[in-house]
Amino acid sequence: MPLKGLLLAGGHGTRLRPLTFNGNKHMIPIANQPMLVYGLRHLKEAGITDVGIILGPITEGIREAIGDGSAFGLRVTYLVQGEPKGLAHAVIVAREFLGDDPFLMYLGDNLLEQGPKEYLDAFRGGEVSAVVGATPVEHPSHYGVVELDRDGRILSIEEKPTAPRSNLALVGVYLFTPEIHDVIRGLTPSRRGELEITDAIRGLNERTHRVRVVRLWGWWKDTGQVADLLEANERILASRSPPYFENRAEVRPKARVIGPVRAGPGTVLEDGVTVQGPTVLGARVRIEAGASVGPFASVGDGGIIRRATVRRSILLDDVVVDLPGTITDSIVGRGTRIGERPGPEGGRTFVLGDASQLSI
Ligand code: G1P
Repeated sequence: MPLKGLLLAGGHGTRLRPLTFNGNKHMIPIANQPMLVYGLRHLKEAGITDVGIILGPITEGIREAIGDGSAFGLRVTYLVQGEPKGLAHAVIVAREFLGDDPFLMYLGDNLLEQGPKEYLDAFRGGEVSAVVGATPVEHPSHYGVVELDRDGRILSIEEKPTAPRSNLALVGVYLFTPEIHDVIRGLTPSRRGELEITDAIRGLNERTHRVRVVRLWGWWKDTGQVADLLEANERILASRSPPYFENRAEVRPKARVIGPVRAGPGTVLEDGVTVQGPTVLGARVRIEAGASVGPFASVGDGGIIRRATVRRSILLDDVVVDLPGTITDSIVGRGTRIGERPGPEGGRTFVLGDASQLSI
């Protein structure tokens, strides 16, 4: 039976405002690639050809970027969830698309170092109803939490418990057999008013005792907040191997490039600048005199950086930074200009959208 893919890209992303007022959180670039693309690649790696993408209230950019999926070697079907009513609700929305096939469900805001291999091995290794992933975390009460016995069997599984019984968080990648549908049909909304996938997994395990838990060996990031995006950006850049770092920029003779740097066509590194890897620059970026960029900077297409030092930050397309000083741990939305106030009087001038954050 073919394995299908289900990629979830719904939700409001309220904790990432203002970036998510007009854009979908799953389209925020990590190392200049929409976050969603990383999950899509793992689905492809699992040998999947048919992927359903669940869309929520803000869909901007997703259909344009992914299209029919052919650029990724996939066949994509869009499924509209509308208002987010929980991860298990997303499975109900996808019920017809999924048919009676097993499926790998991927939360589009989860980034994992490891691909689907361990999930597939566990799935093929014997009679299983579902395979879920778990990894130790510092604040388990922010996640689904699973408690295991010595043999790795599930003792308890709860969604965001106030008193977690273990430090093992459930990651947002799940492999389900169609047995899950029947369990989801019997669910009632949780305290936060959602149909929880964690409740469905618990119900399935109570019924079949055949839910397997794989322990992750690699890093995992649920990108709910700005700090998570910056960490994910850092980790993705740090984990890239040399072929990724193709530098197509025009590097002027007195520009310094230290460490691995990827740059797109039309990008210029002027004399006197320093770019320190790992860093990624898009196409048509200009790093101008006096500027220093990186490490762990991702600069989108058309960016201009003049005089400033930009470290450990994500700049979306067409951002202009023109001032002396250092910018770090920042995410800057499309078309933003950061510069000095002209004129002799002091003071600072801002034009900031709703829910902007400024630390100066
Ligand atoms: C969801 C799941 C939770 C899981 C987490 C992983 O939480 O409900 O069990 O640990 O994803 O990212 P949510 O992001 O909906 O709060």
